[in-house]
Amino acid sequence: MNDIQSTIKEFTKLKSGVKRLTLTEFRNYPTLRLQTEICPIVITGENGSGKTNILEAISFLTPGRGLRGAKLAEIKRISLPGESEILSAQPWSVAANILRNGEEYTVGTALQSFSKEDLEEDDVRTYDRRIVKINQQKITQQGELGKYISAIWVTPQMDRLFLGGTQPRRSFLDRLVYAFDLEHAKRTANFEHLYKQWIQLLKSGQTDEYWLQSLEADMASLGVAIAAARREQIARLNTFVEREPDDIFPDVRLELDGTIEKMLDTNPALQVEDFYTSFLARQRRNILYNDYVDGVNRTDFKVYYKKKNMPAELCSTGEQKALLVSIILAQTQCQILNKGFAPVLLLDEVTTHLDDIKRDALLDKIRDLHIQAWITSTEPQNFDTLKNAAQFLHLQNGKLI
Ligand SMILES: Nc1ncnc2c1ncn2[C@@H]1O[C@H](COP(=O)(O)OP(=O)(O)OP(=O)(O)O)[C@@H](O)[C@H]1O
Ligand SMILES: [Mg+2]
Repeated sequence: MNDIQSTIKEFTKLKSGVKRLTLTEFRNYPTLRLQTEICPIVITGENGSGKTNILEAISFLTPGRGLRGAKLAEIKRISLPGESEILSAQPWSVAANILRNGEEYTVGTALQSFSKEDLEEDDVRTYDRRIVKINQQKITQQGELGKYISAIWVTPQMDRLFLGGTQPRRSFLDRLVYAFDLEHAKRTANFEHLYKQWIQLLKSGQTDEYWLQSLEADMASLGVAIAAARREQIARLNTFVEREPDDIFPDVRLELDGTIEKMLDTNPALQVEDFYTSFLARQRRNILYNDYVDGVNRTDFKVYYKKKNMPAELCSTGEQKALLVSIILAQTQCQILNKGFAPVLLLDEVTTHLDDIKRDALLDKIRDLHIQAWITSTEPQNFDTLKNAAQFLHLQNGKLI
């Protein structure tokens, strides 16, 4: 065991994860209560039995819109045909007792709808928001959650991560960054907000030079901070991979492909910020022609199978899954080393596309990390290697068997 592995072991001795979970009016669950251990938790059941919904519920214990990126209102349970028409008046909620390095906390989150008068439209509109409580105290910044619990997820949608457009890859990358830099979520949200404002202004034909310039300066300043945080995270993961011996899961090489990120290779941040401000001003007319504005909103994230020097998009389906697993495992270990507590892994159908050797190797790795990993599958026979090391939950129509 090398130094890194023994440090990780020291941290994971002090258990972090979900101990108790209660769902109310959440997706297909009127209520569900689970008591869990800090170990692999294998959830099996046929299609539609409610496996992914449990993982989604846990993802709501972290900032953001959960592992499906869902609209808050669509999570509320829809009653089945034939069921009593009276829907429970309760909003959906997720409550949990969690452990962070052995210390227990309660975390709760629920939908809250509120009405606001829309003066322009002259009517009253309903808005949804997610309220969050830690130890019964309401918190105003979801980012606070990151100090208590963190989750890393792999979903079947990510099987195409390396193939499709850049947006899902960029979101994936930014999620890797959030875990280390809680401000990153705020920065990306603020950037997007300013960007939309800027586009609206330009499309409306407004030529308030002062206003445009001030938006561009703010976007440039946020953009450079976003690019710098992404660079730092990529460097952290690459360094980690380099220090670890190659094994069944291929070593990856990660690269950022973005104009602003590249400029930071050779220029000080303040200079890049000045460049970015004038770069945005020069691109104003693009909004009217082709909507293409270059910058941190276009950055891509390139992954290579290191030994073969092969871009991930040219790797086989199973190889791509293995590369994704490599990134997730590196991120998990970096997070333990950096934050001092283990994230919860949410692995939805993660064994799909992996051959038997890789599947068993992944399960061994998860077991050896001594962290909590929620693993869903329709095939219970795939988990024999975890027989004495995992908690097994079987679902049938949203009920625990
Ligand atoms: N708001 C909702 N209200 C009630 N049921 C819902 C709601 N949203 C989703 N569902 C249902 O919850 C059920 C379980 O979904 P889930 O995605 O958890 O299944 P799963 O066990 O992961 O299935 P698969 O093996 O196909 O991935 C589905 O039948 C789905 O239609
Ligand atoms: Mg599912």
